Amino acid sequence: MSNLKNDLFLRACKRKPVERTPIWIMRQAGRYLPEYRAVRAKTDFLTMCKTPELAAEVTIQPVDIIGVDAAIIFSDILVIPEAMGMHLEMHDGRGPVFPSPVRDEQAAKELKNITPDKDLKYVLDALSLTKRELNGRVPLIGFSGAPWTLLTYMVEGEGSKSFSCVKKLIYNNPQLAHKILGKLTDAVADYLSAQLDAGADAVQIFDTWAGILSPRDYLVFALQYVSQLIAKIKSKDQPVIYFPKGVHYRMRTTADCGADVIGVDWTIDMAKARDKIGSKVAIQGNLDPTVLFAEPNFIKREAKKVLDSFGNGSGHVFNLGHGILPDVNPEHAKVLVDYIKKGSKKYHQ
Ligand code: CP3
Repeated sequence: MSNLKNDLFLRACKRKPVERTPIWIMRQAGRYLPEYRAVRAKTDFLTMCKTPELAAEVTIQPVDIIGVDAAIIFSDILVIPEAMGMHLEMHDGRGPVFPSPVRDEQAAKELKNITPDKDLKYVLDALSLTKRELNGRVPLIGFSGAPWTLLTYMVEGEGSKSFSCVKKLIYNNPQLAHKILGKLTDAVADYLSAQLDAGADAVQIFDTWAGILSPRDYLVFALQYVSQLIAKIKSKDQPVIYFPKGVHYRMRTTADCGADVIGVDWTIDMAKARDKIGSKVAIQGNLDPTVLFAEPNFIKREAKKVLDSFGNGSGHVFNLGHGILPDVNPEHAKVLVDYIKKGSKKYHQ
């Protein structure tokens, strides 16, 4: 922590005093930035992920252009299933596709155990290179998909509206679902530990599809495995953020998973989230990402509501409630960041 010029994000994660609320934006290295599109125009998405120089370049773009208080390594959650042997395709407009999804015992058996130092070395190299190039300006966040969210993609084969295939699996063959989730938990724990060793100052676990489960199934198929994997990496001191999208009704239980920070989407008031979990862990969020389509004064008013709702004191990492959308005007992201930098001071006096 000591050789960072700006460690506000890390202090807020540990609920230590800060002069102002730190801010970063999920999916901040992405298509809303013309500078990202310029790099992407020359190459495909997966090659960008696998070329440390390119990954480092786009990771640092939002630090330079938008002024965020943390960088997040440019990669994707689906690199783990790919490393386990699944063929991954990225289609413009359609998103990621696994042409041979995992739906039976045989396919599950074929999933390889991963060795991050070998199979995902390009991510670790990108992290160390980015860390060097950032030169202590802001902390660097590593990440992974949560076991449950990875399982949904591996079983569905692509994004889904009804998630029928993964639901069929957990209802008709829960043993197989648990077997794959166990394997993924080990893989994610090893992968995140390797990222922390390679220089990540914090890690975030994205559980984008936690909210498609019933409250009980969320505990059984999602949260249980996240708690196990955090326990495996908690020998390290760096903060762990868990972002289970769509489960605001389970904040109190979620707060016991061992993470330092819980990410919340925009469907719950910060005051309520803080009331339920605030004294145990820090909270990240939770401006509705579509607010960035509004004009600057509206953006500031809505951002102020989030700050007011959290109230005084440390333990808040400002963020959107989900990723920034590709058609947002970058100037609007900058309006938000500038506003939080100035407007949040009074909550920390
Ligand atoms: O936050 C960051 O800036 C770091 C980079 C990052 C990406 N994906 C880059 C990306 C992160 C943290 C992710 C995580 C991710 N990937 C999640 C969890 C977070 C979330 O948004 O819910 C998920 C579900 C994925 C899977 C994924 N990757 C999808 C569904 C898509 C296609 C949809 C889309 O936005 O186009 C991707 C591709 C992807 N990952 C892009 C980027 C910048 C767009 C690729 C392109 O340039 O064409």
